[in-house]
Amino acid sequence: MERTSRIQGFHKMSLQERHRILQSFSGLTEEDLKTLSKEGALDFETANRMVENVVGTIQIPLGIAMNFIVNGKEVLVPMAVEEPSVVAAASNAAKLARSGGGFFVTNTGPVMIAQIQVVNVPDARSARIGLFEKKQEILALANTQDPTLIGLGGGAKDLEIKVLDSRLGEMVILHLIVDTRDAMGANAVNTMAEALAPHIEGWTGGKVYLRILSNLADRRLVRARTKITKEALGGEDVLEGILYAQAFAEADPYRATTHNKGIMNGVIAVVNATGNDTRAIEAGAHAYAARSGRYTSLTTWEKDAEGNLAGTLEIPLAVGLVGGATKINPVFQASLKILGVTSAVELGEIIAAVGLAQNLAAIRVLATEGVQSGHMSLHAKNIAVMAGATGSLIDEVARRMVEEKKVRVDRAKEILVERKR
Ligand code: MEV
Repeated sequence: MERTSRIQGFHKMSLQERHRILQSFSGLTEEDLKTLSKEGALDFETANRMVENVVGTIQIPLGIAMNFIVNGKEVLVPMAVEEPSVVAAASNAAKLARSGGGFFVTNTGPVMIAQIQVVNVPDARSARIGLFEKKQEILALANTQDPTLIGLGGGAKDLEIKVLDSRLGEMVILHLIVDTRDAMGANAVNTMAEALAPHIEGWTGGKVYLRILSNLADRRLVRARTKITKEALGGEDVLEGILYAQAFAEADPYRATTHNKGIMNGVIAVVNATGNDTRAIEAGAHAYAARSGRYTSLTTWEKDAEGNLAGTLEIPLAVGLVGGATKINPVFQASLKILGVTSAVELGEIIAAVGLAQNLAAIRVLATEGVQSGHMSLHAKNIAVMAGATGSLIDEVARRMVEEKKVRVDRAKEILVERKR
């Protein structure tokens, strides 16, 4: 059979048929197919309705970060993440933050922006003002699209309109500002934008191309702050190291990217655990970090008047409790129950607290002993298993490799041989 990726009707095939195709195309073994056939909390039928051409599901660990107090409320935080140390680090930082009462968080409300791009407008500046004159009509038209959202107090609330000078000439860009309540909102705002397009063409005499939400959700900000007492932090040296780490991230995009990656370790783990759109959150966060024209840190860390460490995080967080995948996978629902949140903004607030905690954990360890010793002890266990260690030998081999600072499969094998002698 000719080997081609042009396979007719793959989407209509059963799981078994798809597996046979993969077997002949990629040489998968029966063992590989058995692995792909294993179901977790998400069954094949449901997964197959979520995306196309499903051949299996994938599991990543769901851990619980402890010690969080957010706006005075004790919370346990589910985190879905493949990276060792993330859950422990968030828990450790949240424990330190308890010394200052935990995390205090506010939000700007669940407000999203839809963009409508109008090109070939004969008189762009007049058209812009003309569209503002139609504001009430535009909002009313948008709001006919989603009566449920209106019933909940959401809906299109405002307009922003600019004339954009682009490589292909001027275009009128209309922003529809929509309160999406407990939804992430992509569906709601995209529907509104598409419904408005023909009207806008009629009013402006231009042509509408794109009608889509903006992931730069800077109307949906969450702001978190925390304080770590100098006693809890462990000394002036640690504090100073953190302040230098912060100054480095603020001044240098190479460092800021990694600094923000540390924040996103926490943020995305909770976004993942609750079935929200990780790419939307990443895109929004990094664009927000570059809003001044230069990419910089999303957090700030400074010394307060009493000599304690004060930290803040301001981040756009377009997360929802309804719509998207959130209701489909039962694990997402269990995560939301663990969190005990009743609104999307409350979920965003906890996520921001986790992001701030995760950043603190990272820069504190970087400013002191470095990340490798912590990472290494977990990594060493994996290496020990790879070398063939089982049961209590895993911990013993791992411990010795870490002590010797030689975390390698060849050394693990030597230790195992020594133990058998
Ligand atoms: C690793 O996943 C994250 C860190 O690199 C973050 C940082 O450097 O701040 C430790």
